[in-house]
Amino acid sequence: MLIIVFLVDLMQLFLDSANIEQVKEANSWGVIDGVTTNPSLIAKEGKDFKETVREICSIVDGAISAEVLCTDDSQKMAAEAEKLVQIHKNVVIKIPLNSEGLKAIKQLSKKGIRTNATLVFSVNQALLAAKAGASFVSPFIGRLDDVGQEGMQLIRDTVQVFRAYNLKCKIIVASIRHPMHVAEAAKLGADIATVPFDVLQKMIKHPLTEKGIQAFLEDAKKTSQKI
Ligand code: G3P
Repeated sequence: MLIIVFLVDLMQLFLDSANIEQVKEANSWGVIDGVTTNPSLIAKEGKDFKETVREICSIVDGAISAEVLCTDDSQKMAAEAEKLVQIHKNVVIKIPLNSEGLKAIKQLSKKGIRTNATLVFSVNQALLAAKAGASFVSPFIGRLDDVGQEGMQLIRDTVQVFRAYNLKCKIIVASIRHPMHVAEAAKLGADIATVPFDVLQKMIKHPLTEKGIQAFLEDAKKTSQKI
């Protein structure tokens, strides 16, 4: 009897942060496969952009997203991208999803430069990014929830379409606001979830774990077991 087993990779976790201490701490937990930044996250830290990206690359051995600032000229976007990939081999270029962005993604993919299409809010935008040659696509679910649309439905639809056509482009669930977003993304078979540090901390915690630890410590005092 022939049994065929399909091995599926576990959903990857990226850290959605430009804070070096958070990157170091999350990386030390052994659960981080990459990091995503954006201009707002970089601005929050108030440090030099390239230095920050370089430092993150020295901590985490995985895809590190850095975003171009030009949004309306594909040539300038590609030129910016070419400079950013000089920082480190793991840098992935975040490109906003508009027509110039698509042109830049196409141009960069021909050169073997990996891109992450960002600010994606519809399946059609995700499809266009994948067709243009993006390595990653980032649907922003929290921002959809904010305006009264179900963000997770976008992930459900995008996973369905990408799987139906066996697209190589990886889905990064972005704009995550709470642990349930992460669990749902994993249940839907998303490739990656990019998670803010506070959400990652919340994923660890459970009141019954804390209560159990305390009870075991109390009971251990009644035994001869020592640390
Ligand atoms: O990486 C970008 C994305 O995750 C942004 O999240 O919370 O600003 O919508 P947020």
